[in-house]
Amino acid sequence: RKRCFRISTGSKQWDSILAGGFQSCSINEVYGEFRCGKTQLVHTMAVMAQLPKDQGGAEGRVAVIDSEGTWRPERIAQIAERFGVDPELANENIVVGRALNSEHQHELVCGLSERFATGECRLLIVDSIMCNWRTDYTGRGELADRQQRLGQHLKHMTLMAEEFNITIMLVNQVQSDPGASALFAGADGRKPLGGHVLGHALTTRILLRKGRGEERVAKVIDSPDCAEKEATYIITTGGIND
Ligand code: GTP
Ligand code: MG
Repeated sequence: RKRCFRISTGSKQWDSILAGGFQSCSINEVYGEFRCGKTQLVHTMAVMAQLPKDQGGAEGRVAVIDSEGTWRPERIAQIAERFGVDPELANENIVVGRALNSEHQHELVCGLSERFATGECRLLIVDSIMCNWRTDYTGRGELADRQQRLGQHLKHMTLMAEEFNITIMLVNQVQSDPGASALFAGADGRKPLGGHVLGHALTTRILLRKGRGEERVAKVIDSPDCAEKEATYIITTGGIND
């Protein structure tokens, strides 16, 4: 097994609940309600991954699958400035694919294999994993088909993470149905989309929620090597911070 590494989040609090950051060779998920900072976190990670290793980075490029149309190069530029990285260079090191539907999303991920095989890219971001699957498969009768296709998509990413020693970060939304969320204990009443198929593919699952005032809270829900701890963080112009 190749030697795995961790990419720092830019927040000391957050790094401390993750034993240093988001791990390679695995799929990590952040989920939570709207505006809790999921997209801001992955923007921050896209800069962190480029930093030297002694600054918590992976000295690598980044691939982004944007399925919600929320990727913002101007945010990358602002975050890059905080870490002393040239803003233009930071964006040049990020390849962004806009996933128009679930089939397209899978094709985009498959098409990235070469960039990862060469070691050029170290981080794959999908923001968000389920949004296309949710709109492509609407009827109850399509659920089995949806989960099967989703399973294939995730299996491909699991193999990429392990074979190429890369960090994969998935952003996920929560079910808006309050009745369904009551069934999911241990996650503050909020249930991530994707069911068991997604749950089983993940190594680490992190719940984000709003805290007091501008504060946000990250909680480790499921991890092989990190206890269920919480960290508070804030969203700044320079990205995620303590
Ligand atoms: P959904 O995609 O809607 O589910 O939400 P999300 O969890 O992805 O939220 P996102 O990461 O987009 O966070 C939105 C929050 O970030 C809002 O409260 C914004 O005010 C804040 N935010 C976005 N850009 C900036 C910025 O440049 N500076 C600061 N300080 N906050 C920002
Ligand atoms: Mg978002």
